[in-house]
This record gives sequence, structure tokens and C-alpha cells, in this order.
Amino acid sequence: MISFKEEVVNLISNVVDELDAEEIHGLIEIPPSYDLGDYAFPCFKLAKVFKKAPNLIAEELAQKIGISEYFEKIENKGPYLNFFINKTKLVETALKEIVEKKENFAAKDIGQGRNIIVEFSSPNIAKPFHIGHIRSTVIGNAIYKICKYLGFNAIAINHLGDYGTQFGMLIAAYKKWGDKETIEKDPINELLKLYVKFNAEAEKDESLKDEARYWFKELENNNKEAVELWQWIRDISLMEFNRVYNLLNIKFDSYAGESFYSDKMGRVIDELEAKGLLKESEGAKIVDLEEYGMPPALIQKSDGSTLYITRDIAAAIYRKEHYDFYKNIYVVASQQNLHFKQWFKIVELMGYDWANDCIHVPFGMVSLEDGTLSTRKGRVVFLEDVLNKAIENTKKIIEEKNPDLENKEEVAKQVGIGAVLFQELFNSRIKDYVFTWERTLSFDGETGPYVQYTHARANSLLEKGEFNIEEEVDYSLLKAEEEIDLARLLYNFPQAVLDAYEKLEPSFITRHITEIAKAFNKFYNSCPIISAEKELKKARLCLVYAVKTTIKTGLGLLGIAAPDKM
Ligand code: ARG
Repeated sequence: MISFKEEVVNLISNVVDELDAEEIHGLIEIPPSYDLGDYAFPCFKLAKVFKKAPNLIAEELAQKIGISEYFEKIENKGPYLNFFINKTKLVETALKEIVEKKENFAAKDIGQGRNIIVEFSSPNIAKPFHIGHIRSTVIGNAIYKICKYLGFNAIAINHLGDYGTQFGMLIAAYKKWGDKETIEKDPINELLKLYVKFNAEAEKDESLKDEARYWFKELENNNKEAVELWQWIRDISLMEFNRVYNLLNIKFDSYAGESFYSDKMGRVIDELEAKGLLKESEGAKIVDLEEYGMPPALIQKSDGSTLYITRDIAAAIYRKEHYDFYKNIYVVASQQNLHFKQWFKIVELMGYDWANDCIHVPFGMVSLEDGTLSTRKGRVVFLEDVLNKAIENTKKIIEEKNPDLENKEEVAKQVGIGAVLFQELFNSRIKDYVFTWERTLSFDGETGPYVQYTHARANSLLEKGEFNIEEEVDYSLLKAEEEIDLARLLYNFPQAVLDAYEKLEPSFITRHITEIAKAFNKFYNSCPIISAEKELKKARLCLVYAVKTTIKTGLGLLGIAAPDKM
């Protein structure tokens, strides 16, 4: 695809020897509004070189450059040189590229097949899969898809929280009060009850804590009873989680969770020991991180059991050896910032240069209107309930507005879930937010259903107008402001995908396709399509096709379906 920005660089390079192409590239700005052009080159830097006022330089450059087939106007304004893209060229470039490459039109091969690990979701088993987990799950899945789209061999890992002292508690609690049948009917709720009861009882009776420790130790020692109970708890929990993953259409390449590393801890501890990084502290083993402004990291407890952080170190080493990753990405809440900083530092101190390739992608917190989520207090909203309620709600709306729609069930699922995912991916990930049913189930304004609906509308126009992708189009007929605005957004879509990848921030894509949907609806309201004269109709349908394809691609990268009818 023609890069207009590169053309700007070329034009300036031709008349300015003092800056190289890369420097020029770095200086080019996007003006705040299109009245000032599509690109602007500020002349302040050249002012020093030429010892002349920047506005004079801008004027001189404008004269020297003259005209170009890519730009309809190149003019100086104050210290800036402004470039206005030739509109027909813009429309033609974007539309031709989309018609030719279809849903791959924004896919640059940045990855070149390299392995990139995206770890996301990673819930703790035997605990509710609640809306707090939706963030990692949904943001992580989008990042995974974006990496794949850009040519990486992306590997989705679910680092299940399936190990640790809480399993000692669960086993002890089960042995005291548990009933297999009751639990199998409603695993997570029943296990949660056991867990809550155990915690409450342990407040009164300290000896329960010893029992829990004992059982976790037995689990680590491969005691048959402990392992069987643990395996059962893991299996029934995963069955529940998989219902949600199926609803969301999310697949993992690996479920190697914390337990997977239980036999790989010895090596980590030996290695830390050999590298002189471990210190004794009241019988426990720690890595002192004071020098780096962080509290010490507890690696092994005095009873010999290992910790969450130990397993993360073991997992990273394993992943490097097993996948030889280019990057190893962790999509985990910002509450764990310190945890990641600590162990990234430890891996670096161990002498692994790939420590720098481990990236924590944090996100903000979800809370409820009446306060924070709390598993222990039973204040949770189950993710599955949110999704099902969104689907139910969508069904009702379909019954009201479009009762004859074919495939109602499937569409209700795609739109209901789309609504939840879209709102999750609309704001920058680091922002905290308060969960409300009202907002999650809303269809108005900048929402998933609005964008999906735009896609369906585009699709029905293509059907009605009998769009034929093989036909020649006269791009110069598309010159209304609404058409140009739309074409510009389509042209800029690949950059939005790149930004999303570089900042690991899917909201760049969400926002961009929302803008496309808005611009499309303006175009639709002011430019007749089906009733337009033959050539113009062809050109407009081509634009509609490009919009449909781009929205579908964008939604796909976010893990959201794009139904053809709704
Ligand atoms: N299971 C943890 C939790 O629910 C998240 C795991 C994050 N990943 C990791 N490699 N530490 O809080």
C-alpha cells in the first residue's frame, strides 16, 4: 500500500540534505484537524541548521518541493509545512488494498514466525471465575490475536492457579465436611463454601491451619490421597471454566499452571543458591532486593514449601528453554506490579539476558457499586452469569425489534457477548472501572452492538446492491466529505493495529472501528447508495465493502463476532 507518510519523507529528503530519512520521519506530525493537512513537518529543527527563522524555511521548502502526484496541496503555514493528501489517491489506495487483501489488509509480517507467549486469564481453580477475571481473559485474548495477525507464532498460555497452600486448606476441609456428590453438582460454589467455612473455623481453631499446611506438604510429597483429591478438584474446576471459554470462543495452547512447575522448583532453588542470591531469614529462604528498592522475595518457607513467585521463576525458565520466546507477555492485574518487578529482577540477577523480554501488561481494577469484589466475603459476580444475562437481554431485544431474524439464538449469543467484550476493550486497560449491569447491557452509543449493527447494515447493502468485487471502480467519483473521511479512517486502520501491538493496548482498535462505524453512518445518511447512478453506485458499494471488511477484521482481532444479519 502506498505510504503517504513515506512520500512526505521522500519529498523532504529530496530538498533537505541536512537530515536523514529517519530523522525526517521522526519529525512528521499529524495535525490536530484535517483543515491543516494530513501531515505536517515542523521546521524548528532546521532553523538551527540553516540559522534562519522556521517560517522562512517552511516557505522555501514549499517552493522547492513544488507539486506531487500524491498531494493535492503542499503549503507552508507559519513554521510548518503542511501536506494534503490527494483525495482520489487516498480513496483508491485504501479501497484497492482492501479489495485485494480482504481481511488481511492490515496484516504486516512483523513477527516473522517468531514465538511470542501471551499468558492470560490464569484463574485460581476452586474459586469463582468472576468479572475480575474477565479483564485478563479478554484483553489477553485480543493481544494474542493481534500478535498472530502480525505474523508471530503466538502461544496462549493459561497459567492456572492450581497449586499452593489453599489446596492444603481445601483438602483438609473436604476431609472434614465435604460430600462428593454435592460438590459435583455445583463444584465452584460448593468448594467455595468449604473454603469460606475453613477460613472461618481456622480463625477460632489454630490447629486447622496446621492441618492445611500438613496437607499441602503431603501434596508436594506426592501422597496418593492428596494428589487424587487435588486432581479431582482441578478437573471439576476446569470443566466450569471451559464453559466460559467456550462461550467466549477462547482456546489455549497450554494449561500449564502452577502445579506444572512443582517438580521444577528444586532446580530454581539450587541455581539461586549457587549464584549466591539466597539468604536465610528465620529458617526461610529469601532474595534480598533492598538494593533495588523492593521488599525481599520469599522463595521458600521454613517448612520447605515453595511460593507463587518461585513458580513464576521456574515457569519463565521453562518457557525460555521450551519455546525460546521472542517475548513473554503476562496479562495480569496491576495489583501484581510489585510481584512482577521482583521476579523480573531476580531472573535478571540470575544472569538471564532474556529477563528484558518478559513483559507485564497490567490493567486496572473492576469493582462493584457497593465496593470491591471479595471471594472470601462472597461478594462476587460470576463471569458466566454476566455473559448469560447479556445473551438473554439480547434475545429480548431481538424478539422486540426483529422477531423474524434467522438464527436468533446464535446472533443473540454473538451480540450479547460482543457487548460485554467491547465495553471491556473500549477504554485503556489501565483504567479502573465500576461494573454495572446497566452499562454492560447497553446497546446505545459507543457499544459493541452499535458497531456490529453497522457491519450488518453494510452487509445488507452489499446484498441489496448486488455488489460484485470483480468490477472496475472509478474512485474519483467518491469525493463527498463523508466519503473522504471514511476512506481516511480505513487507510489508517493498519496503523491502529500496529499501535495496539506496540502499546499492547487493544483499545486502539476498538476506538478506531467505532470511529469507522460513526463515519459510515454519516455517509449512509447523506449519500444515496442503491439509488445512485450506476457508476457511482458501484464506487459507493466498494466503499461499503471496505467498511464491512475492516470492521469485521477489527472485531475479529478483539475476539468479537461480526454477524451478517441482526
Ligand atoms: N492465578 C493468579 C490470580 O488469579 C494470576 C496468575 C498470573 N500469572 C502469573 N504468571 N503469575 O491472581
